Amino acid sequence: MEVDRNALIQGMGGEEAVAKMDHEQRADALEDFMSGELDAAILARKAPKRYPTVAELQEKIETRDHRRGIGKLFRPIPSRIGSDEDMSGVMVKRLTPMPQRPSLEDFFEHRFAPAGHLLQSAALAKKNAASEEVILACLLHDIGNSLIKSDHGYWGAQLIEPYVSEKVTFAVRYHQALRFFADTSVNYEYPKRYYELFGIDYVPPPYIQAAHDYARNHKWYMEARLVTLNDYYAFDPNVELSIDEFRDIIGRHFKQPKEGLGYDQTPVSHMWRAMINPDSPL
Ligand SMILES: [Fe+2]
Ligand SMILES: [Fe+2]
Repeated sequence: MEVDRNALIQGMGGEEAVAKMDHEQRADALEDFMSGELDAAILARKAPKRYPTVAELQEKIETRDHRRGIGKLFRPIPSRIGSDEDMSGVMVKRLTPMPQRPSLEDFFEHRFAPAGHLLQSAALAKKNAASEEVILACLLHDIGNSLIKSDHGYWGAQLIEPYVSEKVTFAVRYHQALRFFADTSVNYEYPKRYYELFGIDYVPPPYIQAAHDYARNHKWYMEARLVTLNDYYAFDPNVELSIDEFRDIIGRHFKQPKEGLGYDQTPVSHMWRAMINPDSPL
């Protein structure tokens, strides 16, 4: 433990008092002081983290220049989205041009990068010997956040629906609702991060409760649950992962349209185009 000399002398009664002490008294006073400091440090460590309430988060809305549900691609520093760091004066970057017929990997490289959370979640699922479809679902589970964060599970599922199996779409769609509900049978707990994001007293709205109940009784429940289990937040900046590690799984389970994502005339093509060009004024 580091000792602040001034605090130590004050804690022992001040310069004058210390000067009058003999060696023994000083040693005792030092011990008292150190043990007090140690207790304070332990108490501070144990003090429960103070999470905001729903009402406090509501009050913060008018202190921001953006709404919290805005997509990552529309903010200057994508990784800091959701935090309340002051970003006034931080400018957006020019995006790298996309190929004419973009593939999923191109989106990872040019629009979702560094995509640390997605790559780490997929890598964790792989390490845990999940099925290839679950690994793919983990890789894609939060891509909706690039476009819009509010209800991201539904946006993400819609984005991929024409290109993957129903099971993968299901897993991505329902991971959002399942995140709010513990499942002790697989050691899944309500995320601490949600106390911070949604408020300590937050109660998920009825449609999220209903989505959970529906998914809980579905034959693909475990696929969606595994996405929440491998939803990896402890991002290690020293681990370099690349989309290359998942090219084979993408190849087997994601039907890339030959015209390229965004140009294949599906009901979701415009959503991919909005990510190709988020700078378009209309
Ligand atoms: Fe998510
Ligand atoms: Fe996630």
